[in-house]
Amino acid sequence: MLVNINSILAKARQGRYGVGAFNTSNLEITQAIIQAAELLNAPVIVATSEKAIQYAGIENLSQLVITMAKKAKIPVALHLDHGKSFDIVKECIKHNYTSVMIDASHLSFKENLRLTKQVVKYAHKRGVSVEAEIGRLAGIEDDIKVKKDEAIYTDPDEAKRFAHESGCDALAIAIGTSHGAYKFKGKPKLRIDILKEIAEIVKMPLVLHGASGVKIKWISRVNKFGGQLAHTRGVPDNLIKQAVKYSISKINTDTDLRIAFTAGVREYLIKNPEGFDPRKIIGLARDMMQQVVEDRIKIFGSKNKALPPLP
Ligand code: G3H
Ligand code: 13P
Ligand code: ZN
Repeated sequence: MLVNINSILAKARQGRYGVGAFNTSNLEITQAIIQAAELLNAPVIVATSEKAIQYAGIENLSQLVITMAKKAKIPVALHLDHGKSFDIVKECIKHNYTSVMIDASHLSFKENLRLTKQVVKYAHKRGVSVEAEIGRLAGIEDDIKVKKDEAIYTDPDEAKRFAHESGCDALAIAIGTSHGAYKFKGKPKLRIDILKEIAEIVKMPLVLHGASGVKIKWISRVNKFGGQLAHTRGVPDNLIKQAVKYSISKINTDTDLRIAFTAGVREYLIKNPEGFDPRKIIGLARDMMQQVVEDRIKIFGSKNKALPPLP
């Protein structure tokens, strides 16, 4: 069923588990996300970035997700990821998104607050909930480019003031993750101390972006069939579990799906040099993405949190 994200995140916050927000830009990714969540009886958030919307077309993409969400046995929310402007927010609300993120974290505190308030006023009037961001994540992912030395951890007092004054429903914070496949130079580390401080004073669902695991297992599967991905590291499972323990309720994953997709396409094409049926080529990729979503749902602790487990 298609639901408002607030109902998903309020339960997650109360029950101290994380709900996965997975990025999609096409049919197969969306199927992988929703099928995995159904299989594990987990609530799930399907997210589309501005780039994904540009790629697929907003009507196509939103209708695809909404159609599948309505048929699903589990709660599904449709979310705009990293909306950068009031215009894209309005466009998504027009197309029945259940929540939007306004990411003005690159602006000054004052400007971020001003734009977020404007979005909150507009969205709330229409029953749509708003995620905002305070602090800055490092990383490069299409439209989101922040150099490592420009990343800024979220200041707990600023977060409290921002959450209170903006009226947003969920808050993305920066505690050491970054977008993309190249997250940590040395040992992966998250500022759980900052998270704890924020969680004590900001009483709303907190969001972790840049949370992909970038597992060696998947990198190796890509490289086994001719890929040349560097053996990098993402956020290890134990750090994700700690973040959830200390009140992260929404966890964003995109890179892991991209890597699994690539592994599937590469494996199929290398093993079937005579193959040219798109359904077979992408079908294997879809299975692999579904596997990733299932693994992550288990790590986040949202398995069986959709409805009471079946007897
Ligand atoms: O957090 C960012 C997402 O991975 C979106 O990336 O803008 O390339 O779709 P994208
Ligand atoms: P990853 O690049 O770690 O998958 O993060 C995705 C994300 O934060 C989407 O908003
Ligand atoms: Zn993000």
